[in-house]
Amino acid sequence: MKRQPFIAGNWKMNKTGQQAVETATQLARLCSDIKDIEVMIAPANLSLALVAQAIQGTTVKLGAQNLYFEQQGAFTGEVSADMVKAAGAEYILVGHSERRQYFGETDEAVNRKIAAALGVGLKPVLCIGETLAQRKQENTYLILDKQVSDGLKGFGLEELSNLVLAYEPVWAIGTGQTAGIEQVEAVHQHLRSLLESLFSKDLADRTRIVYGGSVKPENVKKIMAIEDVDGALVGGASLDADKFINIIKYNG
Ligand code: PGA
Repeated sequence: MKRQPFIAGNWKMNKTGQQAVETATQLARLCSDIKDIEVMIAPANLSLALVAQAIQGTTVKLGAQNLYFEQQGAFTGEVSADMVKAAGAEYILVGHSERRQYFGETDEAVNRKIAAALGVGLKPVLCIGETLAQRKQENTYLILDKQVSDGLKGFGLEELSNLVLAYEPVWAIGTGQTAGIEQVEAVHQHLRSLLESLFSKDLADRTRIVYGGSVKPENVKKIMAIEDVDGALVGGASLDADKFINIIKYNG
């Protein structure tokens, strides 16, 4: 089954609105000839609407980094799925390890956020990954299986048709340390079988499973060559358009 590669930039808490617009505009220009790869950027929520305007009509898609699962109300400081969608986002990152680690996001909250996202037609990018301690204790699959099955609990095949799964070993994020090729290969293969057993072979075949964690222009080709790796979620190396384009154009 041919899956369109998905390469996304997670800008995390970087760039003011103006800086985000500048980078997004530059990136969209560099991506103008790209057809076979889906490119997405996720700026801070505050910059979503500005960036949406800047990349309108280009090949670059917009995603948000987070939302709150309630529809509206007295939740100071939060934004709803509706707001994210109205600002122009098409994708939404859910369950990023930094949210789990620093903001106490549980699998249950992840599940509710995905429900909220699906409710307004946002495409979820479910981020999962084990910590170094969990890997050392040989609990990697136990953790990943729980994150996937709890995160996706209760959704039907139709609802998950646009799901992207992002495997990001926590110990490889922002550390310069990438997981070994065999480790990534084994996990991605495992995740695809997991999707098949939880949902269906067709969904497993269609779902893009991307890798994240210190992806750089220097290592992207090797990572993309791994079977069952359908793209990359890139943090640090996506902040600079000239650098990010070298990841996007990994095939030259
Ligand atoms: P990194 O971040 O590329 O800076 O390691 C990846 C991510 O957190 O999505």
